[in-house]
Amino acid sequence: MAVKMHLSFFIFATIGSMQLVSVSSTTHIVGDNLGWNVPNSPTFYKEWAQNRTFVVGDVLLFQYNPGLNTVILVEKSDYDSCTTKKILHTYFRGNSSVTLDRVGDYYFFSSVGMHCEFGQKLHVDVVAPSTISSH
Ligand SMILES: *[C@@H]1O[C@H](CO)[C@@H](O)[C@H](O)[C@H]1NC(C)=O
Ligand SMILES: *[C@@H]1O[C@H](CO)[C@@H](O)[C@H](O)[C@H]1NC(C)=O
Repeated sequence: MAVKMHLSFFIFATIGSMQLVSVSSTTHIVGDNLGWNVPNSPTFYKEWAQNRTFVVGDVLLFQYNPGLNTVILVEKSDYDSCTTKKILHTYFRGNSSVTLDRVGDYYFFSSVGMHCEFGQKLHVDVVAPSTISSH
């Protein structure tokens, strides 16, 4: 009997935390008013990301027009050197929403022209919901 009660408590707690994830999910408009474009400062997207917390389940909304920019998901080595040896995912249809569905580092840049060299690149570090203190 005690074991059974323990199990149902566990299921209840799991469902509760799943609901918490969906309720607290945030959509981040990348670059705010600039959107996803070549920035004036090469550190613009780094500074944009610095003041934010990215939690599993959150969404990045890259606002851009198709043809003028892309969003590619790459590994750190390609991000650092603006190369495309291994593209993990390509978004190109404009205004792309990317759901951050795992903990860890995500690396993006625009593969158009020299955009990456000019600083149109974004690294976010995604944390688990439980590491955020509740409000
Ligand atoms: C980030 O926060 C710091 C300190 O509050 C502030 O000075 C800075 O302007 C903010 N940067 C951005 C990009 O919002
Ligand atoms: C992207 O979103 C912006 C802001 O909502 C809108 O003005 C623009 O027309 C959209 N562009 C595309 C290609 O959907």
